[in-house]
Amino acid sequence: LAGAVVLGIETSCDETGVGVVRLRADGHVELLADEVASSVDEHARFGGVVPEVASRAHLEAMVPTVRRAMEVAGVRPSDVDAVAVTAGPGLAGALLVGVAAAKAYATAWGVPLYGVNHLSAHVAVDTLEHGPLPGPALALLVSGGHSSLLEVADLAGPVNQLGATIDDAAGEAFDKVARLLGLPFPGGPHIDRVAREGDPDAIAFPRGLTGPHDPAYDFSFSGLKTAVARWVEAAERAGRSVPVADVAASFQEAVVDVLTAKTVRAARERGVDHLIIGGGVAANSRLRWMAEQRCADAGITLRVPRPKLCTDNGAMVAALGAHLLAAGVEQSSWDIPADPGLHV
Ligand code: KG4
Ligand code: ZN
Repeated sequence: LAGAVVLGIETSCDETGVGVVRLRADGHVELLADEVASSVDEHARFGGVVPEVASRAHLEAMVPTVRRAMEVAGVRPSDVDAVAVTAGPGLAGALLVGVAAAKAYATAWGVPLYGVNHLSAHVAVDTLEHGPLPGPALALLVSGGHSSLLEVADLAGPVNQLGATIDDAAGEAFDKVARLLGLPFPGGPHIDRVAREGDPDAIAFPRGLTGPHDPAYDFSFSGLKTAVARWVEAAERAGRSVPVADVAASFQEAVVDVLTAKTVRAARERGVDHLIIGGGVAANSRLRWMAEQRCADAGITLRVPRPKLCTDNGAMVAALGAHLLAAGVEQSSWDIPADPGLHV
C-alpha cells in the first residue's frame, strides 16, 4: 500500500474541502493538496451558516475544487487508490452533496469508498503535521459546530467521547459574543485580536459546569454568553461605554480556562500523555498559550496542527481515509447515507 493516494471530500458545513494525501512506506501520510472553497462570505450577512446556502455553494464548488486539488497534487484519476468523504455529523443537505460526489468519483474510478466521521478526521489531520500517533491521545475539538473531548486509542478504530458541550459550541459562543460586541462574523478571530488589548481578569465571568457535582468532562457556554449579554446591557443602561477589549478578553479567558482545565484533568485521570487540539477555535492564541502552559506543567505532549489544518478541510478526511486503508479496514458500502447525527 506504500504510495497509495487518497482523495478526501469534506462538505459538512460551509467549506467545500478537497484534499489529496499519499501513504508513505514509513507509515507517514504526506499532504499533497488541500483546497478549500468557503461560502463563509455568503453567510456573513445572516450572522451564521444558512444550510440551504451552504448546500448550493457546495454543489457549485465541488467539481472545480476536486479538479484544482488533483492539479495541485499532480495526480490523475488513475493515480487515486481510494476516496474518503465526511458522512457526518453535519448539515444534512451539505453532507449529501459531498457523499453523492464521493460515490460518483469512486464508482467512476473503480476505487474503494470510505465514509468517515468528521470528528475523527479532525483528529487524524494532526498526523499530516506531526507524524503517527505514538500511543493513545486525547483530542479537544472546538469549532463553530462542536466542542468535544475525545479519547483516541487508534485512528482506525472508534473514538470514545468523554465529554461534549451540552448547549453552545465554543466557536458558536465566540461568534455570538462577537455579535453582541458589534464585531463581524465569524467573530472568533476578532475576539482573539481585540482581546490582546484587554484585561482577561477585568470581569469575572462564570465558568460553566465546574461545580463539584457537575459532569467532569462536559462543557456549557450558553450561561457565559448570557452573562456577557447582561453585563453589556447593564453598562449600556447605565450610560457607560462598553470596554470591548476587556469584555472580549474576560470572556475568552472564561472559555479557555474551562477548556484547558477540563482537558488536562481528563488526561491525568485517563493516564493519557498526548493531547491534540483541533477545530477552528484551535487557532485562538490564548487557548494555544494556556494549553501549552498547562500541558507543560502536567507533562503532556501537546500537538496542535497549523490553523489551516484545524479548520474544516478535505485533507483531514483524506488523512483518515489513508489510515483506514493502511489498517485494512473494509470499505464502506455503496449505499452509505449522509448521516447528520452520526455518532462518534
Ligand atoms: O472548524 P471551523 O472552521 O468550522 C466549523 O465550525 O466546523 O470553525 C469555525 C469557528 C468559528 O466559530 C470561528 O469564530 C472560530 O472557529 N474561530 C476562532 C478563531 N478562529 C476561528 N475562535 C476563537 N479564536 C480564533 N482565533
Ligand atoms: Zn469541523
